Order: sequence, then C-alpha cells, then structure tokens
Amino acid sequence: MNGSTNNSGWLGDEPDVDEGSQPKLEQPEAGTAGTGTTDDKGKLPKSTVACQLPEEHGGKMMTCILPILMKIGDRICQMILVINIWFYSEIIITDVYMYMMIQEVIRGTKDVLSLAQGVVYWQPPKPALDKVKELVWEPSVSRYGADEGLPELREALVRKLRQENNLHKSSVMVTAGANQAFVNLVLTLCDAGDSVVMFAPYYFNAYMSFQMTGVTNILVGPGNPKTLHPDEDWLEKTLRETKPTPKLVTVVNPGNPSGTYIPLPLLKIAYPTEVAGFGAQLLKIQDNIPICAAIISQRLALYSLEVGPEWVTEQVKDLVKNRAIVLEALSPLGDDAVKGGEGAIYLWAKLPDKCVDDYEVIRWLATKHGVVVIPGSACGCPGHLRISFGGLLEDDCRVAAARLRKGLEELARDGMVH
Ligand SMILES: Cc1ncc(COP(=O)(O)O)c(C=O)c1O
Repeated sequence: MNGSTNNSGWLGDEPDVDEGSQPKLEQPEAGTAGTGTTDDKGKLPKSTVACQLPEEHGGKMMTCILPILMKIGDRICQMILVINIWFYSEIIITDVYMYMMIQEVIRGTKDVLSLAQGVVYWQPPKPALDKVKELVWEPSVSRYGADEGLPELREALVRKLRQENNLHKSSVMVTAGANQAFVNLVLTLCDAGDSVVMFAPYYFNAYMSFQMTGVTNILVGPGNPKTLHPDEDWLEKTLRETKPTPKLVTVVNPGNPSGTYIPLPLLKIAYPTEVAGFGAQLLKIQDNIPICAAIISQRLALYSLEVGPEWVTEQVKDLVKNRAIVLEALSPLGDDAVKGGEGAIYLWAKLPDKCVDDYEVIRWLATKHGVVVIPGSACGCPGHLRISFGGLLEDDCRVAAARLRKGLEELARDGMVH
C-alpha cells in the first residue's frame, strides 16, 4: 500500500463506516503496491505481494479499496477489501467503441436515420419466433447447456455449412455472436505482446479485440486500391520478414466494412487445418465468459435454420433495392469513390480530398442532415465512410438516402457549412 489511506479504526468492533460511502480509488506508483494479511490491529498490511506484471512490459496497477460490512456469526464487522488490478496500459487505450460513439453522436439530435449499424431490418422467421414463444416456460431455457452449444443446433449448422457453403470438414462451437467468437479466438491463439495481421479497411471491433487482450502489435496491411482485397505480396513479405512470425492473419469475407467479396483462390493463401489442443482452449474461454450462448437464442437459431435457406434468399431480394437506392445517394462523390456492396450490406466511400476529418463529417451529417454513417478512421482509413444499407425498410431507406445525397452534394460543393 502506498500509505495514503487513514486506516485507524477500520478493524474495530463497532462499525463506523458510512454504508453508502464510495470505494476509494488510488493509483499508486508502479512497483510500490501490494496486498497481504493484516499484521497490526487497526493497520493496513504492508506490501507483501510481488509484482506479477512489471512495468517494463507496459504494466500499471490500480488499487481499489472497498469498505465493506461483513456478518461473522451474529456480529457485523467492518472490513476492507483491497483489490490490486494490474493491467497493461495499452489495454485501456483502445479505439472508441463504434456503436457507443454513434449513440453519442445522435444523442440530442432529433429524427436521425441510421445507415450506420450493420444489421438487417427483418426479424427471425415468424414460425421460429412462434415456436420460441411457447418455450419460455420450459425449465431448460433458464439453465446452462453444453458450453459448445446445443448438439442439435451444432449438427444443423454443420449440415448447413456442407449443403449451402460447400464446407465439408467443419466443427462448430456456438457463441453469443461473431464478436464473442472472435474474442474467443484471440484469447486462444494470442498472448500479450504478439504481433498479428489485419488489412485496411479493417473491422473496428476485431481491432479492439486485439488491443483489449494486450495484442498491441497490430500490423495493418494495405488493400488493393481497386478491389480492396488484401494485398497478397505485402502479406507474404510481412510473414517472411517479421520476427517472431505474426500469430495470426485476420481476413473478413464478405468484407466488413468494405462490403466486398474475396474470391476463393485468394482466400486459400494459408491456414492450418488442425491446431493441437485448439478445441479444448476454446472451450476453456467459453466456460469463463458466457458458459454457453443463451439457450433460448440457440433454440431460435435452430428453428430458423429449419425454415430453410429460401426464406433468407427471399429477404435478401429487398436488400438489392436498398443497395441501388444508397448507391445513387453516394453519386455526388464520383464513380470511383464508391466500392463494395457485392458481398455484404456495406458500401465503402471515399470522401472528397478536402474532408480529412471523417469524424467531423459524420457529426455534421447527423446534426445537419439527420443521417448517420460510420467514419472510415475507425477502420484504419481516414477520409472514408462505411454506409450500411441493410437496416431500414425501403421507404425509410429512401428518406435516409435522400438526406445523405443532399449532405454529400453540399459537402462536395461547399464543404461542411454549419
Ligand atoms: C466481421 C464481423 N464480426 C463481428 C460482427 C458482429 O456480429 P455479432 O453481432 O454476431 O457479434 C460483424 C457484424 O456484422 C462482422 O461483420
């Protein structure tokens, strides 16, 4: 402890702690803090614990001191709980999490339409929702299930991958979404200080997953300026020359945020078909975070798969209309400025050269024109925008697109006039 706390009376018999008092936060100088058992009545312990993560590795420590009341037998005792939290300084210096930032941009702005979030506007199929409605009273949906997911859902997913995606050697673990799946992989495959590879424009949450877990040596490779596909030559050179060799290469297909589709031959660059102990490590992480994805969601996923692929194909037809509407709205930026949209629900657009600060542009579009999109800086590409065309029904999409077009026309002509 760094001695700044007045400890007198903390272990006295009669409680004199204000139960509502806030825990004190201290940030002692690195290397001076520790915890231990109490050696003197009424005094906090001297430093007894060796530092686990020395500062030369970027470690910093925060000490939380929490006054608590504890019932021992029929006596109430005052105690303090000292929690030393070591963290790598880089872990907390992550990029701003995008959806929080977007919420902040639109807070207080009335009538904003979103072309930001990467979602589709439809709900799961009605027959699947109806079945789930009947399930809520079933005890199993309020319990944990197998960490790796419901066996019948995993089987259905492996079947789907074989029949619809021509993937024949899949094994599946069910997670609470793709973001969690990605974090599971990073925690399994990487250690703090490793280097990894991504390509710009990259998916912002994946970048932050690396940062949060201490993988701060993120080598960002270029995309082909025409196609936005990963630059193979750069990758080969980087893997050959970087020592130690980067732990993993991240490629997102279909692309987010680019919306592009990388053809199969390019994807076959290299990946291991088997990694020893991989499944067991993944399970360990799963068991420590959600234990299992919510059972009710897994049952909903299973019932949705049972409806068959035609249902999704039908839904996607509407997205083709939305894409045409949004593409037209981006035309003030010029033909070459817009890419993607063939693989996923995103278009990727280059702003006029004079618009370097894309964060400012998205704030201006939200406040002046009532439409919100994602800034390219969040994906490693300042001066660009990601526009999602999946989240709105056609009529709303038309309104949002008209606002976007008006804003971009103004931007190209006069700049950001407030
Ligand atoms: C590459 C990628 N990872 C993660 C996500 C987030 O997915 P989820 O909502 O399933 O966590 C998305 C969403 O579009 C994505 O494109």
